Amino acid sequence: MSWVRAASVDELDAGPLVFHRPPLQISLFRVGARVFAVDNRCPHEGYPLSLGHVGDDCVLTCNWHNWKFRLEDGECVLGGDNVRAYPARIEDGHVLVDVTAPSADAARRETLRGLRTAFDERDFGRTCREIARLHFHGLDPEDALREALAWSEDRLEFGAGHAMAGAADWLSLSRSLGPELEPRVICLSEAVDHLAFDSLRQPTHPYPAPGARFDDDAFVDAIEREDAAAAESMAARGLADGLHWADMEEAFARAALAHYNDFGHSLIYCVKAGQLVDMLGDGIERAVVLPMARHLIYTTREDRIPEFKAYAPALEALREIPRPAAADRRPEVPFPASLPAAIDWLHAALSSSPPEAVYDALLEALALNMLHFDTGFGVAYDNPVSRNVGWLDFTHGLTFSNAVRRTCSRYPRLWPHGLLQMACFLGRNHGFIDADVSTAEWRVDDPDAFFRSIREKLLDHGMREPIFAVHLLKTAAAVGAACGLVGFRICPQKASKTTPKRPINGCRATP
Ligand code: FES
Repeated sequence: MSWVRAASVDELDAGPLVFHRPPLQISLFRVGARVFAVDNRCPHEGYPLSLGHVGDDCVLTCNWHNWKFRLEDGECVLGGDNVRAYPARIEDGHVLVDVTAPSADAARRETLRGLRTAFDERDFGRTCREIARLHFHGLDPEDALREALAWSEDRLEFGAGHAMAGAADWLSLSRSLGPELEPRVICLSEAVDHLAFDSLRQPTHPYPAPGARFDDDAFVDAIEREDAAAAESMAARGLADGLHWADMEEAFARAALAHYNDFGHSLIYCVKAGQLVDMLGDGIERAVVLPMARHLIYTTREDRIPEFKAYAPALEALREIPRPAAADRRPEVPFPASLPAAIDWLHAALSSSPPEAVYDALLEALALNMLHFDTGFGVAYDNPVSRNVGWLDFTHGLTFSNAVRRTCSRYPRLWPHGLLQMACFLGRNHGFIDADVSTAEWRVDDPDAFFRSIREKLLDHGMREPIFAVHLLKTAAAVGAACGLVGFRICPQKASKTTPKRPINGCRATP
């Protein structure tokens, strides 16, 4: 206990007072024979509570936006966040206040309780404030994201989605921005808010208890059979047996790439799941492994659509191509290319060039595809559904490619699967490009300034729903990585092995 004299009773009788004990600023109130002390700054927007109104019921109203607080314990009875209340008493004509700082445990408990409320109500403002409070209590603000992942784990009916994937990118961006608090709070709040958005008003969808021992082939088979109980219980058993994401990752990647499915999302999510575990630690594994297993069950199978019926036989043919001896030969960039042309090109390219070189050429073709997008299709309202195409049809070619590079560099036998799906992205958009678009005006001569502008846009995007911002984020992250950047910042020592040797439309990784 650390009781200090805050004022004389006579002074307080004249009206509420503010007692300063840096960094504390405490407002004092007297109601009858009782005295109360609470933080002077309203937890909503910081206006002075000393100028509030106190009723006979000892409830304090902040006059700016009508939040109401119980003076006795600081509980907010109308509005949102609680205000900190301090024990106070009268002794020898003075008001004494106990300014003992709460223990780290108590501060953490209270802040996470507030964050949970914000999460359940999807209250973005409060999410930001509670994350900032973690920082000011000397706690780790990234704990907010760890908790949010756990809270959302069983409320995602169809498993992992963009919120989990975006969390990895927001966190990565946050860490690249240095120690300044505000951008870090923004990034973490965006990540937590998207998880809250996807969980909002969702009932729980529990996972089964641990089942059969985790086995790569059996897991892939369970996904193939769309046997949710078998896949989820096997993943749960893997965790219970002490396996980590790294132990199970290859099986998840195999399942994600087993078919042309889900518009490339499955592999993107796999990569982001691994990044989250790398950044946040083993404690969050359950919150990504189980939703990932569930996601894989529910993926759409585009290779069953007539347009992509060539996918399965093409994959079989590609798997039989022996790895060429030539180490450096880079094939011509296949642009423009229809779907059959892209598949034929891939077969020829893999017969004569290493997969890394084929990857580079395909990535460049996908970038050109996007530059040539005929935006008239994106705004048309009278096209048939089959010609309903927008920017995302093109950006996913790039974000999926990023996942292919990361995955297939680690598991080379998956190169044919990844490259074939890249070729599918290239070919499927062939009918929606404008060959006459001048790419010169899109040339980026100053990558630093370009990515800085994207960072600034992301930190103040003003977009209605998190799904919009997260697509800009993941596209920028993928393009940045292709240019050898980390967190959209130039970091040459971490450039990937498969960073294109030639710049993509002028975007260079310069030291
Ligand atoms: S600042 Fe107090 S209610 Fe808004």
